[in-house]
Amino acid sequence: MCGIIGIVGNEAVAPLLLDGLKRLEYRGYDSAGIATVFDGQLERRRAEGKLRNLEAVVADQPLSGTIGIGHTRWATHGRPTVNNAHPHATAKVSLVHNGIVENYKELKAELAGKGVVFETETDTEVVVQMISAYLDEGLAPKEAAFETLQRLEGAFALAIVFAGHGNLMIGARKGSPLAVGYGEEGMYLGSDALALAPLTNRLSYLEEGDWVVLSRDSVEIYEENGEAVERAVVQSAVSGAMIGKGQYRHFMQKEIFEQPAVIGDTLHTFYNPETGRITLPEFPFDLTSIPRITVIGCGSASLAGWTAKYWLEQEAAQLVEIDIASEFRYREAPMPEGGVSLFISQSGETSDTLAALHYAKSRGQKIVSVVNVPESAIARESDMVLPTLAGPEIGVASTKAFITQLTVLACLSLAIGRAKGVLTEEREAELSRALSEVPARVSEILNHDQAIRSIAVDVAEARDVLYLARGNMYPIALEGALKLKEISYIHAEGYAAGEMKHGPIALIDENVPIIACAPSGPLLEKTISNLQEAHARGGQVILISDAEGLAKAGDIARHAIEIPAIDPFVAPILYTIPIQLLAYHTAVLKGTDVDQPRNLAKSVTVE
Ligand code: F6R
Repeated sequence: MCGIIGIVGNEAVAPLLLDGLKRLEYRGYDSAGIATVFDGQLERRRAEGKLRNLEAVVADQPLSGTIGIGHTRWATHGRPTVNNAHPHATAKVSLVHNGIVENYKELKAELAGKGVVFETETDTEVVVQMISAYLDEGLAPKEAAFETLQRLEGAFALAIVFAGHGNLMIGARKGSPLAVGYGEEGMYLGSDALALAPLTNRLSYLEEGDWVVLSRDSVEIYEENGEAVERAVVQSAVSGAMIGKGQYRHFMQKEIFEQPAVIGDTLHTFYNPETGRITLPEFPFDLTSIPRITVIGCGSASLAGWTAKYWLEQEAAQLVEIDIASEFRYREAPMPEGGVSLFISQSGETSDTLAALHYAKSRGQKIVSVVNVPESAIARESDMVLPTLAGPEIGVASTKAFITQLTVLACLSLAIGRAKGVLTEEREAELSRALSEVPARVSEILNHDQAIRSIAVDVAEARDVLYLARGNMYPIALEGALKLKEISYIHAEGYAAGEMKHGPIALIDENVPIIACAPSGPLLEKTISNLQEAHARGGQVILISDAEGLAKAGDIARHAIEIPAIDPFVAPILYTIPIQLLAYHTAVLKGTDVDQPRNLAKSVTVE
């Protein structure tokens, strides 16, 4: 979602800002802009749509100055037009904003009452107009910003520059992430470490309510109440090189092919090849007596959680509740004493997930999170973090983050199963071995890439697609449908195969591909009979199974994708690969913007 970059440096800042915005593109946006201070004057350039449009505007009307701010906007309040694009500005102040000012109507009415004329449909404009009004009253920039921040409700990350101040930038954070970068050549603000990667890797992450005053060679951080505060400076491991596409056509494709490596990296933090056992770091609570684990996430992260529910129930006899964060946060769920809440998030900044975490905390739950960005708010607010080592994920559709979430959750299920004495030693050894073989099996499946591409030719023709599965594969059917929808824009639904006759079967005709994930195991026969019912009604079955499953299904499948035979426990991880490739190739054939699908943002920092 919206990306922010701010630079107080000593060289021409416009190219650096545009470059920083390119590194923020992955977050999702529909307009962009930059502003600088030059000769005491504020100037800005903005454009609708992709960054190349902004680059063209800047090439046509260059911007001078060594201090400036930049923004990629994902529209919330007001359409994605040039006029609504950030930076917003008056003659005295210009700023970029990520988040939503919830009390903007009230503040707008107050300012309008004093004669301020608003030019945009955005919530952000009240911030710039209020700072400007305080400046008009004679306040210095720092005081004007401080007074304004006190009045804002909602979530925001802000970067602000002032006319007549070529060496001053103010940043603020509440609910939306903002990092301060310390460099040799200047100081920086960025929505994330990636934005700042080539400029500096020395960062401070602002805490809730913090605001910061930057000059070329100084940084002063303040708490919400105005007290000066020190925040740790950390070395970011993210490098500019990590965000190249290499030999791949899309980031999503690169990230799919990175999966054997990142599963291996994640697994090796927990799996000891010498003992053949999974060992997790010590938990700050007793694993044997958790009354209930409440698993929460959004989108793909919540589907990883759904899979964990099957694993935890089956292998650890653990009571589990699962919900999506946007519902959970408001439903006033009672939570058991001594309960654990498990939050799953790639970005660690998803606002619904964070709000659900705050709710669980307020109900006395222990907080465990499975997060990909270790400096994120969700990671920071957890009692314990189980990291996914996926590395930066740039494609908007979650692939390697999802698969590493599954990897961590499988390890967690085994650790709880063992601690509770539910898993026998032999079964634990069997499952750990199966897990340790996953990276190699995933590489084998990736070899089917071209065969899956040819199946995608049929899928790309479809208007609707059904994904069916049972048991711990059911969440993978949901994930398959989500992946296809978001990047190919084809309508898709995931169903538990046994639920078909209760409604969805009415959708089936010869134009509806039915993608089934059906590994051999206790539910294979049942899934095959559901597929037979679909086949009998003209449904075009694409069957993903192992040799045994494909043999048992006989000729009901129009297309088959063969997966190595594995323990059903790890099947959700392996069967994710073909559904990702199928979605990817379908989207490429349809010519959509695979890495930045329309309307979507990578990190959803607004409600
Ligand atoms: C789907 C996808 C989204 C995210 C969801 C949660 O491919 O990427 O559904 O999984 O927005 O995001 P995080 O994991 O950052 O909390």
